[in-house]
Amino acid sequence: MLQLENISVRRLDQHILRSVDWQTEEGQHWVLLGANGAGKTTLLQVVLGYLWPTTGSVRVLGKTYGECDLRELRKRIGYVSVQMDMRLEGSVSALELVASGKTASFQLYEPLKDDDRELASHYLREMDAESVMEKPYHLLSQGERQKVLIARALMANPDLLVLDEPCNGLDFPSRERMLSAVSGMTEASHRQMIYVTHYPDEIVPGFTHVAIMKAGRMAAAGPIADTLTDCVLSDAYDVPVRVHWFDERPVVRVARD
Ligand SMILES: Nc1ncnc2c1ncn2[C@@H]1O[C@H](COP(=O)(O)OP(=O)(O)O)[C@@H](O)[C@H]1O
Ligand SMILES: [Mg+2]
Repeated sequence: MLQLENISVRRLDQHILRSVDWQTEEGQHWVLLGANGAGKTTLLQVVLGYLWPTTGSVRVLGKTYGECDLRELRKRIGYVSVQMDMRLEGSVSALELVASGKTASFQLYEPLKDDDRELASHYLREMDAESVMEKPYHLLSQGERQKVLIARALMANPDLLVLDEPCNGLDFPSRERMLSAVSGMTEASHRQMIYVTHYPDEIVPGFTHVAIMKAGRMAAAGPIADTLTDCVLSDAYDVPVRVHWFDERPVVRVARD
């Protein structure tokens, strides 16, 4: 699905990414971990073709960047980030906004077709956000907006879905509801998910692999059980930590001894 080789990105004399290799296969779902500033969002910008790396080659969903039509490829990739907020003119309901995800262009001011309405409400239900369906998007809370934007991304039925810190700024019950929706989404067999966070405890059942970035490098990448270890995490975050597992979720604590 992803084949990144020797990716480096340099900006203002600073190395943001250094020789990053990353490969993902069909049937896997990945969590991309790393401290603030480690380079996660930059790496995603490369994957999405918004940022051209200084060195390296990028192949996504079988297409090599530089040799393919990126606009066509992006239709197969869903991307939702907290940093991306919809700038909307006027009042648009959550349902209309979700439905507009079917085609990348906004055609919000045409009446909704019945089957689009049905599909949009299906994805809002999948995100446990049915109750906000008719509400204006601009009045929603941050957690509700994130869910609406994820439902909107699902509307295009992408082969790859990238979520960049969707739980940022959520209180803990909202966070748990978001995580359970995300865990449910890993069950769609054809779609690969990449979930980006700096909190290891957001790794929910359904994810199979984890990639850990540190200071622009890929510190570790592989199956969760082999990669999410005391040793690897202590090294990646530069503090001694222990990983404990509760209800199939990792909890990472700084070691006291
Ligand atoms: N356009 C840019 N120009 C210069 N520095 C940047 C740019 N974008 C990001 N950075 C820097 O690159 C580093 C990695 O940022 P980012 O990829 O956003 O990290 P993360 O998503 O892991 O928190 C940070 O130190 C950030 O300040
Ligand atoms: Mg980021």
